Amino acid sequence: MRTQVCIIGGGPSGLLLSQLLDRAGIASVVLERQTHDHVLSRIRAGVLEYGSVAMLEQAGVADRVHVEGLPHSGTFLALQNTGFRIDFDALIGKGVMVYGQTEVTHDLYDARDAAGGTVIHRVEGTRPHDLDTASPYVTYALDGAEHRIDCDFVAGCDGFHGPSRQAIPKDVLTEYERVYPFGWLGVLSETPPVSHELIYANHPRGFALASMRNPQLSRYYIQAPVDDPLDRWTDDAFWDELRRRLPHDAAEALVTGPSIEKSIAPLRSYVADPMRWGRLFLVGDAAHIVPPTGAKGLNLAISDVHYLFEALKLHYAQGDDSGIDGYSRTALARVWNAIRFSWWFTTTMHRFPEQTPFDQAIQDAELRHLQTSVSAQRNLAENYVGLPF
Ligand code: APR
Ligand code: PHB
Repeated sequence: MRTQVCIIGGGPSGLLLSQLLDRAGIASVVLERQTHDHVLSRIRAGVLEYGSVAMLEQAGVADRVHVEGLPHSGTFLALQNTGFRIDFDALIGKGVMVYGQTEVTHDLYDARDAAGGTVIHRVEGTRPHDLDTASPYVTYALDGAEHRIDCDFVAGCDGFHGPSRQAIPKDVLTEYERVYPFGWLGVLSETPPVSHELIYANHPRGFALASMRNPQLSRYYIQAPVDDPLDRWTDDAFWDELRRRLPHDAAEALVTGPSIEKSIAPLRSYVADPMRWGRLFLVGDAAHIVPPTGAKGLNLAISDVHYLFEALKLHYAQGDDSGIDGYSRTALARVWNAIRFSWWFTTTMHRFPEQTPFDQAIQDAELRHLQTSVSAQRNLAENYVGLPF
């Protein structure tokens, strides 16, 4: 088989890229290791920057976001059970859209299906080859038979554990990493959200977040040791701990119910540099990971897709390779802004095991400054709603 762009990975990055390419008349094939149902069963964050919504519009997949998404013009920050609001709209005139990543992926699959796009599921042993030549290709197995796709470019949209990044020679790749000494225990429950806006809470017992998917579906998280056995966290234990960490009025208003999903996720920051090697481009989680504080993961993947899509359009329409040559530099500049912001937000909102009284006093000062300084709030708002592409 031959295509113009072979896309490894059918998560949001790969699907959005193939959808945009298709609308620009550029052919692609998406190779996905998992089944369609498995990809749609993954629960991820749920906040879209305004620029991400614009990208979904550009891809023709924003109808449902605009009907079912919840526009948020601010968020709550809490310290020791009392809170204050960051008013995105008043501070910078922009907001975010609360809409689950699973729904974004759903909309993208529907669009690819409607357009007759090629997404091949359950591929095994996917491997890109000859990436530093003008004729790269990708091999994979399906139902025991070997296949090969020849292409002009390979887009590595295969997440943190995929094969694309591994194909870059070790002496070319620089990796930057921070692993945080705690995880997030997340619960999804069919209960009305405790607040119409998100609440990020710093508490002596650890961080907590009240989020939502829709008016009947809530998403809550508490900071917990990453190796805590899940069976220690009965629903009652989770709700009790969440109540202790939320602002008092929210704790009193909290409606609880059975959890329909419960899991602990580790927190890490990671960046691979460069994001391009020869004819391979890394996109989304294949190139970088952020801790979930601030929900930048999907949004960063979408901005990578934007830069790569513009670069490929320039290449095919005008024979101009400046976008391709600049992809890594341009994408990484925005990536580092989000890495910095989510590191700062994580550091400011969590309790660290080794935190000294000095560290604690600095954290308290940071939050009090945020509470009283319009410029500190504007800085947070600008980063939270998303820096321009
Ligand atoms: N061959 C084919 N597909 C693969 C392979 C492989 N060898 N390895 C991984 N994949 C697929 C995974 O099954 C997954 O569906 O690549 C896809 C990568 O998707 P994501 O991990 O969702 O990454 P991405 O599309 O970059 O999305 C970034 O989604 O993962 C979240 O937190 C992340 O919010 C961020 C956003
Ligand atoms: C979520 O709703 O899952 C969510 C929201 C905001 C975050 C992280 C996760 O910062």
